[in-house]
Amino acid sequence: MPIIKWTPDLSVGFESVDTDHQVLIGLLNELDDAVNVGEPRETVSRVLGSLLDYTDYHFGREEVLMRACRYPDMDAHIRTHDTLRAQVADIRSRYLRSPESIHAREVLAFLKNWLTAHILGRDKLYQPFMESDLQKVGDADRAYTEQMGQKYGDPQSSAVERA
Ligand SMILES: [Fe+2]
Ligand SMILES: [Fe+2]
Repeated sequence: MPIIKWTPDLSVGFESVDTDHQVLIGLLNELDDAVNVGEPRETVSRVLGSLLDYTDYHFGREEVLMRACRYPDMDAHIRTHDTLRAQVADIRSRYLRSPESIHAREVLAFLKNWLTAHILGRDKLYQPFMESDLQKVGDADRAYTEQMGQKYGDPQSSAVERA
């Protein structure tokens, strides 16, 4: 059973951001499955790694889009991303040093609560600004996907294929 489901009330009205959120939710569920069926440590580690990498990829996209539509509360929003980035980097380094010190279930509960609260409480607030400048936001989105794709392959499409 998935621990979290994407439902239309989580939509921020912009397709690639919704897809990112769906991928993140898919990875959280994958991590939950891996923990529940007692997958080997390498599997849990790989899924946790993908989740952390994709979080960073997604934050980068949102920040580019908020800049493109001159979202007035962008700085505060980015600070909440930076706080999570630091927490996630800490989880990852503790995990690499000593996998037993990380309780995957606690990490999962934390990320699940963080993600839903952040989408509903923060991400939704930029929706009207993005909608009022769809041309610029769309251009910035395509440029971001292309730039990241050249660097790493297209994480969005490979994650969607995997899900
Ligand atoms: Fe988001
Ligand atoms: Fe966000």
